Amino acid sequence: MDVKVLVAYATKYGATADIAEKIGLVLRQAGLHTDVLPTDSVSDLTLYKAVVLGSAVYAGQWRKEAVRFLGANEKTMAERPVWLFSSGPTGEGDPVQLMKGWRFPGAQQPIADRIQPRDIAFFHGELDMKKLSFAEKLIVKGIKAPVGDFRDWDSITSWAAAIADELKQTVP
Ligand SMILES: Cc1cc2nc3c(=O)[nH]c(=O)nc-3n(C[C@H](O)[C@H](O)[C@H](O)COP(=O)(O)O)c2cc1C
Repeated sequence: MDVKVLVAYATKYGATADIAEKIGLVLRQAGLHTDVLPTDSVSDLTLYKAVVLGSAVYAGQWRKEAVRFLGANEKTMAERPVWLFSSGPTGEGDPVQLMKGWRFPGAQQPIADRIQPRDIAFFHGELDMKKLSFAEKLIVKGIKAPVGDFRDWDSITSWAAAIADELKQTVP
């Protein structure tokens, strides 16, 4: 099937990049031509018939390059099927409950409302103390955030598989 899909991501320490690669793998295995790129490396969004965009969350915000991408490409994205995801919470249980009801950055909600994504997901993330700055380590210790890799590959895989199913049914 000749649908070209973009999975664009914004990451600081790589955990979200791995999630984007996993989504890309599932889409390719379903027969969809898929590019997986950091947001700053995307040159022409009009080449793609569908877009998946995800960002790591820091202090309740998306990474600034993801915010920039969303703002710069709002019109093109509004004309295509779009899926958005955030990644961040560590610990067991539902990510939205772990983050006390946070689902998506409030500042970007108006753009999301205009783009009308097919879905917005929130995935667990990874906290690797070895990678963090001194200040970040202090914050993580201060709020007693669970440390480790909590990414839920089953839920990421099923989300991506649902995207593949929808695209194969609806995009010519
Ligand atoms: C200083 C700091 C602040 C964070 N703030 C949040 C937050 O507000 N919400 C959240 O869900 N995760 C938060 N996280 C967790 C990160 O989003 C998580 O580690 C994520 O997997 C990092 O992705 P990356 O490796 O792609 O940058 C924070 C992590 C750090 C170190």
